[in-house]
Amino acid sequence: MPPTKHTTGSLRSQAWWDNAGNPEMTALYLERFLNYGLTPAELQSGRPIIGIAQTGSDLVPCNRHHLALADRVRDGIRDGGGIPFEFPVHPLQETGKRPTAALDRNLAYLGLVEVLYGYPLDGVVLTTGCDKTTPACLTAAATVNLPAIVLSGGPMLNGYHHGERIGSSGSGLVIWQSRRLLASGQIDYDEFMARVAASAPSIGHCNTMGTALSMNSLAEALGMSLPGCAAIPAPYRERAQMAYDTGRRAVAMVHEDLTPRKIMTRQAFENAIVVASAIAASTNVPIHINAIARHVGVALSIQDWQRVGAHIPVLVNVAPTGEFLGEDFYRAGGVPAVMRSLLTAGLLHGDAMTISGRTVAVNLEDLAPADPAVIRPLHEPVAARGGLLIMTGNLFDSAVMKTSVITDDFRARYLPDPDEPQVLDLRAIVFDGPEDYHARIQDPELGIDENCILVIRYTGPIGYPGSAEVVNMEVPTALVRLGVTVLPTLGDGRQSGTSDAPSILNASPEAAVGGNLAILRTGDRIRIDMDNACVDVLLSAEEIAERWAHYTSPTFDNQTPWQEIYRSTVGQLDSGACLELAVSYQDLVHTKGIPRDSH
Ligand code: FES
Ligand code: MG
Repeated sequence: MPPTKHTTGSLRSQAWWDNAGNPEMTALYLERFLNYGLTPAELQSGRPIIGIAQTGSDLVPCNRHHLALADRVRDGIRDGGGIPFEFPVHPLQETGKRPTAALDRNLAYLGLVEVLYGYPLDGVVLTTGCDKTTPACLTAAATVNLPAIVLSGGPMLNGYHHGERIGSSGSGLVIWQSRRLLASGQIDYDEFMARVAASAPSIGHCNTMGTALSMNSLAEALGMSLPGCAAIPAPYRERAQMAYDTGRRAVAMVHEDLTPRKIMTRQAFENAIVVASAIAASTNVPIHINAIARHVGVALSIQDWQRVGAHIPVLVNVAPTGEFLGEDFYRAGGVPAVMRSLLTAGLLHGDAMTISGRTVAVNLEDLAPADPAVIRPLHEPVAARGGLLIMTGNLFDSAVMKTSVITDDFRARYLPDPDEPQVLDLRAIVFDGPEDYHARIQDPELGIDENCILVIRYTGPIGYPGSAEVVNMEVPTALVRLGVTVLPTLGDGRQSGTSDAPSILNASPEAAVGGNLAILRTGDRIRIDMDNACVDVLLSAEEIAERWAHYTSPTFDNQTPWQEIYRSTVGQLDSGACLELAVSYQDLVHTKGIPRDSH
């Protein structure tokens, strides 16, 4: 039996609640939703049913306050004339989920696609926050193409320790800095724990410009949340007010049939890339943004990130690139202030449509002036170039390098003369995953010195599985004591959005699927040419072929059924690490219609 086509103008949910051709099924659908007090009149009134995709739970503390915010979303939906239906999303918490939350991004995606498509929903509020929750929600909304609006949970308040502003980051900045202090004997373990705990002082997601704040900011830049949504700290009254406005707006979007495919256009993605540079976004964002683009049917490549974003300066002075944190970012004007600067300079598409029903340019009218200490003017940026370099060479087709986090100390040591070719020639120290790294990093036999690059492999989507944030490797303690606190790193995994080491990440293809990282050996010379965005191992093609001829792959054990399914269909990081078979499913609401009856 062919599916019933959904026609614009009649609500999708009415195919469940008010199906004149099949009154018995309608009765069956209605009765169970009445058992907690809803009335048939409500459900048959033609009011939009708005889902609230709830990502918060005890397992996801970064988003847990969405459980409370949902009350304000419900109020907004009701006042807007809709009916709210809240439901859970598969939990995605960055630091708690083993082996990686990245593995589960696509699982949450699959689950949410089924819910949005298979239940009587006309629109959805996507509650986002912790790193993977934003892309999981947006990829699913893209596939189904129901009217969808993002409600960010917002960053934590600033943390302070001994009067010093201290940034939170589940897997991030304070941890890396404190580990170095611990390793060099400057602090003890109690002080280490005190610093780490002080960095997470309230509800909310990480307050540095890690993946969480980056992705929520880019959801806003894409036009998928109300203007100003991303940066409001989680505990502020404005956050709950934003929840209310978001609920109200969701209902209107259904009446306007304002779907993700009308918002997330090529122009919107170019805007997101430009904003990503200006906020010095996490190196994880190209993965997620490219995944969203694929699911919404927009052609976007990893090279677009360099082409569109490399020359854009960093304006946002927030850690790890800058000094401040999410609370300061909000007070300074947040994403709208950044976008207005970029728009005024002609760097954004002002006519891109947003879920407000207005264009980017109209959304940015009448803003208060930004605080220039936190959101710098274009002529006084935090860094002249905020974009990613997309590296290529004989070890991988692509990898990303975030140059804005490279410290002055590092440049002074390795690249002292900006007029000379910016080339590093380094000796590779190769580790097969983080266990191997931890087991051997202190081994004096490796002879690690400041002219080495730490390489980690078998940490990509298939190798790990899910791709782990393990490329930010600490240097041996003996080297820290000599004053060398960071070394360049390279790997087929990812890096915490808040690490400050100069790293070459997300190498695609990964070692586990035949990338040349697999045949690299400790002692090989690696040349990094920053001017030409090239990374090469100094081996002949014959030598590389010879090593492949004698190569045996490690085995990759699946510990759960999902790991096996994931590995059988996941793509590489450069193209979003999507479930490849899922990408052909586009715009389900319009291409597949309403699913068959359940009984
Ligand atoms: Fe969840 Fe950082 S660990 S937001
Ligand atoms: Mg992270």
